[in-house]
Amino acid sequence: MRLRLSLYPRILRALALLSVCAAWIIIAGHGAPAYGNPSGITNIFRPLSQPAQEIKELSLLVIAICTVIFLVVAGLLVYTIVRFRHRAGDEASEPPQIYGSNQIELAWTVLPILIVFVLILVTSRTIADIQDRKASPGALQAMVIGHQWWWEIRYPELGIVTANELHVPASDGSGRRPTFLKLQSADVAHSFWVPQLAGKTDLIPNRENLMWIEPTEPGTYLGNCAEYCGTQHARMLIRVVVQPPDEFERWVREQQAAAAEGASAAEGRTVFFANSCVNCHTIRGTSAQGIFGPDLTHLMSRQTLAAGAAPNTPASLRAWVRDPQGAKVGCLMPNMQMTDGEVDKIVAYLQTLK
Ligand code: CUA
Repeated sequence: MRLRLSLYPRILRALALLSVCAAWIIIAGHGAPAYGNPSGITNIFRPLSQPAQEIKELSLLVIAICTVIFLVVAGLLVYTIVRFRHRAGDEASEPPQIYGSNQIELAWTVLPILIVFVLILVTSRTIADIQDRKASPGALQAMVIGHQWWWEIRYPELGIVTANELHVPASDGSGRRPTFLKLQSADVAHSFWVPQLAGKTDLIPNRENLMWIEPTEPGTYLGNCAEYCGTQHARMLIRVVVQPPDEFERWVREQQAAAAEGASAAEGRTVFFANSCVNCHTIRGTSAQGIFGPDLTHLMSRQTLAAGAAPNTPASLRAWVRDPQGAKVGCLMPNMQMTDGEVDKIVAYLQTLK
């Protein structure tokens, strides 16, 4: 068999394309910062927290070892293909026949075993480092509960319940402030992944998984559910808002405050409580105590609606209340078939929930 020379340019082109893609993935994360920039990309090669930093260092080592192996194997392959290609006159003679070589066979058995052993050791050391981290007494504790298709976030010690937006303090010169998360699921398996903060951890029904983060740069970090969980898996976005400690304290006080009781939207309030909204949503201090949907006590303090499917603007809120299925097909909130007037009133009421 003869490898046609016309194939070489195609192989070279494919290799060049692959290298460009790999380089782009790495360089893109170093170009523009993704935090605080919701349209930016998130990238595991641009970590801004432990344990993401540790995971990046490990992955660079693994990539480096694999690159060396790839270059050696591909180099030998290309050399062999070129050096021993078919030449005119080859038919007359037969190449030397070699039956086995103890040295070579020993080398290509022992070397890979050593390499795999090194990879196992460094990986298990990193995993142990991350899993053994104990919560210091002052550490923030939060619970993240996966739902189809949104995130419930609870701070049991602070008495706060919110959704889709995890607020945590940043560690800085004045002290370390890690956040320890307990991960649970209300229905199917989900996976919590904010690439710049930590690796993925699954949320599994009837089980509690643990993880921790310790970001040092304030900003908004984006993540997504990383385990296919149904129709709207792709729109199950999470935001982690990392704040300087004093700003975080202010956020805590605002969230702990009771829901607004303004008379400005009394009509909307009446419509809200007359409908079945209250069966699924909680507004603290009222008769609305449903637990199937997000807590709405401070709905307006959040940046997005429907787990990042839409920005939290009056227009999107109206479209959402009018027809949730139009905004996020398959979500568990039904179209309540309200009149335009009723929708306007409810939206006016919801907008008082600051
Ligand atoms: Cu939740 Cu995918």
